[in-house]
Amino acid sequence: MYPTLELDYNKLLDMVSEMGYRLMKSGAEIYRVEESIQRLLQAYGAPRGEVFAIPNCLMVSLTSPDGRPVTQIRRMPTHGTDIYLLEKYNGLCRRLCRETRLSPDSLIYPIFVDETLRGKRPIEALPGQFHYGLDAVCEAVSDCLAAGVTHCILFGLPREKDAVGSSAWAKHGVVQEAIRAIKAKYPDFYVITDVCMCEYTDHGHCGILCGQSVDNDKTLEVLAKTALSHVEAGADMVAPSDMMDGRVAAIRAVLDEHGYETTPIMAYSAKYASAFYGPFRAAAGSAPSFGDRKGYQMDPHNRKEALKECALDEAEGADILMVKPALSYLDVIRECSDAFDLPMCAYSVSGEYAMIKAAGAAGLVDEYRIMCESALSVFRAGANMLITYYAKELAQAIQKGDIG
Ligand code: PBG
Repeated sequence: MYPTLELDYNKLLDMVSEMGYRLMKSGAEIYRVEESIQRLLQAYGAPRGEVFAIPNCLMVSLTSPDGRPVTQIRRMPTHGTDIYLLEKYNGLCRRLCRETRLSPDSLIYPIFVDETLRGKRPIEALPGQFHYGLDAVCEAVSDCLAAGVTHCILFGLPREKDAVGSSAWAKHGVVQEAIRAIKAKYPDFYVITDVCMCEYTDHGHCGILCGQSVDNDKTLEVLAKTALSHVEAGADMVAPSDMMDGRVAAIRAVLDEHGYETTPIMAYSAKYASAFYGPFRAAAGSAPSFGDRKGYQMDPHNRKEALKECALDEAEGADILMVKPALSYLDVIRECSDAFDLPMCAYSVSGEYAMIKAAGAAGLVDEYRIMCESALSVFRAGANMLITYYAKELAQAIQKGDIG
């Protein structure tokens, strides 16, 4: 507020920027100029202004008592003016000059469907996210559509698990029924399905076991069956996340054989054995009952291996490649998106979401701004699309113009 002031903020702005301008002309150091301006504002009981000074210009911005920003830019006569820099401080021009573009079209929202549930239930490990029963899955979709999100990826929690994960490809399995429910009501909503065994096997590994380790080739068969059953139920795209070798080729062959040549495959290509999946495994009930996934997921130390995995998936006929997780692997996203002509997806996984949520809830960071900045950094790194638990909030941030 400007308590005693009849002197309005426009006059105050004139005064402080004139003073700053003179100081700069007389060769004062920039930080001194800033300091003096802030001190003068303080002396008038005004809130701190925003001061931006570079050798060729000075910009001072005040917020009027009714919340409107007023800005004055002074150019030094002795210098040319860097219009680009100056104009970037004008909101509309800043948006014009953005190098990274985001659209709600490039966001994919994960939906968890639980066969044993009626209605919806909050997921403790992922604050703000829900498990949906088959009777409620359309609610998740209508929430997406209301926020401007038109794509989802489905995860299923089946009633029954067994050693080979047979509920994964059951004609009336949880994911298959969820697809039917969604497509009956929202035929234009885009449904991707996660294809993996870990939610369906009683041991929690992503494939069929032979002794204590996963049998790669036996698993290919059940993955292909699972993918086909999703597509037959109406899925628009399948996304194998198991990391078995040869699974894209196996799935492609089965889909083609059944007349689904045009159904795309999004391959979780560079999927690291990451601690960031922790909350997901609690949410999906898919933690391995023994051992870990290091035998089939990638070592976080490796970069070239990611290129190799992408090359294999491309050769096998993948339509979209993916790097997962996102934030700790921005270098991998950049490198893979430079090296391959296929669209690149990134998965901002459960642990990334949970950390931002927790830090925000503890008042340690500004959740909204961190969410925005993290998401746009993934696109800046070269991703064309992003799977994220923040999809709805991000779509709205884009529509507001805060990012994108
Ligand atoms: C299934 C799968 C996982 C995730 C996506 N699909 C878990 C895992 O590999 O352990 C992780 C997603 C997340 O953490 O948000 N294999």
